[in-house]
Amino acid sequence: MYICICKAVSDKAIRQEIAAGASSMRELRQCLGVGSQCGQCVPAAQQLLSKELSRELVCTSASSTRTETSTKVSAVPQAHLNSIIACRNISCDGQAA
Ligand code: FES
Repeated sequence: MYICICKAVSDKAIRQEIAAGASSMRELRQCLGVGSQCGQCVPAAQQLLSKELSRELVCTSASSTRTETSTKVSAVPQAHLNSIIACRNISCDGQAA
């Protein structure tokens, strides 16, 4: 389902971005463009962000964080990870370039 019509961003794309580490509307806007035009999607995107972050907190506090992290990363397609790395200007060693 599309959350942001202007930028054609789906709930799946937002969930993947959150699973990859996005934790604010600013990050979603920078990497996906959510809310960067008409702004009509901001409440829905914010609600999805809050829901996903709450779910991640429950998951990571209920079991080993190392296992959860491995599971989350492997669920994100490599092409999407590459776009996130490019968007956030991260170098190979994980540091901001
Ligand atoms: S619907 Fe997202 S900016 Fe317009």
